[in-house]
Amino acid sequence: MMKSVKILKNLKNKRALVRVDFNFTLRNGLPLDSFRLKASLPTLKLLAQKKAKVILISHLGKPEKEGEKKKLSFKNLISWLARQDKILKSLQFIENPFSERAISQIHQAKSGSFFLLENIRFWPEEKQNNFAFSKKLSKLGDIYVNEAFSVCHRKHSSIVGLPKFLPSYAGIRLQEEITTLRNVLEKPKHPFVLISGGAKISTKIELLRGFKRIADFIFIGGGIANTFLFNKGINVGSSFKEEISLDSSLLKQKNIIIPFDVVILQKDKVRNIKVKDVNSLKGDFKILDIGKESVDFIVEAIKKAKMIIWNGPLGYFEKKPFDKGTKKIIQALLQTKSKVILGGGETIVCFNQVRDNLVKNLVKANPNIFISTGGGAMLEFLSGKRLCGVKALENSR
Ligand code: 3PG
Repeated sequence: MMKSVKILKNLKNKRALVRVDFNFTLRNGLPLDSFRLKASLPTLKLLAQKKAKVILISHLGKPEKEGEKKKLSFKNLISWLARQDKILKSLQFIENPFSERAISQIHQAKSGSFFLLENIRFWPEEKQNNFAFSKKLSKLGDIYVNEAFSVCHRKHSSIVGLPKFLPSYAGIRLQEEITTLRNVLEKPKHPFVLISGGAKISTKIELLRGFKRIADFIFIGGGIANTFLFNKGINVGSSFKEEISLDSSLLKQKNIIIPFDVVILQKDKVRNIKVKDVNSLKGDFKILDIGKESVDFIVEAIKKAKMIIWNGPLGYFEKKPFDKGTKKIIQALLQTKSKVILGGGETIVCFNQVRDNLVKNLVKANPNIFISTGGGAMLEFLSGKRLCGVKALENSR
């Protein structure tokens, strides 16, 4: 059983090492949104109220890629973070968590102080889940809190290593994510609809395999629909697709529905065309959105559904007019009274990028919408896998 951070008593003079997910999408060096930060605030506030000194650990981007490191230092984000909530206003940056200086800085700090360590993936040992590194890191805290559901599928030091050395607790949001997603798997409400888009089917095959038994309908869009069409022998021109072969258990599955019509771009012309007519197209083209008929069909299904999961945009939503399908689906989700769960990497990016009123209202207007902080973690959880980060919390002392 995981212990909740809520059971903790007075933490005066105690140091709480908290794994958060500040892996923001950056534009011009700054986060596009603060969704994941906001999701962690109840836990951070609770720890501050209980008088702990809070030491935040997170990764940001992929610093192992050549030339990326400088851009991905948390030093660049400290003042942005400090502006997001008053508890973080005196947030201090710790460049080298293993230095004497850092240890005495934390030692001398007052209760309720907040620190953020440098991007934890600057140390290759983090991804290797290196035992000695986890042990060294654990010396910075008296307790460990995992408030990073979205990283719980990673077998890294700050996720699975630290709980071996410190009494460990689940953050408030992490628990909410698990309860909500577990309910989907254990108590689905029917009609239950999964809408799955995004680029890569390779990251979603397990999800589709699991859900073809649970969901009444699975609607496919985006790049993954192209891979389905391609596997069914349909010419998809130079549309994005993955060269992988899908087996007949997916291709012939009755409740998996691929678009009947699509929006294509051919020589600067945008057209809505039936899938059965795509094969007779002459010359090159790209499929960039699901077509009107398919959108209407999904919207009708949303109206009747009692539970809906949406993962991944249905077209090239970054570029008008290919955002239409995705936006219509969002509009329908806004109006339903049923439980809606959104998440998965590209879905969150989609929310970040489609910043018009429609999307902002969606979040406010429909209290039944749960936006998971998880990308890959949500997909793995819903595919029925046990997340290693959750397991580590359950096994911790
Ligand atoms: C995410 O954005 O899904 C998490 O922060 C995990 O990031 P990663 O894919 O770089 O491990």
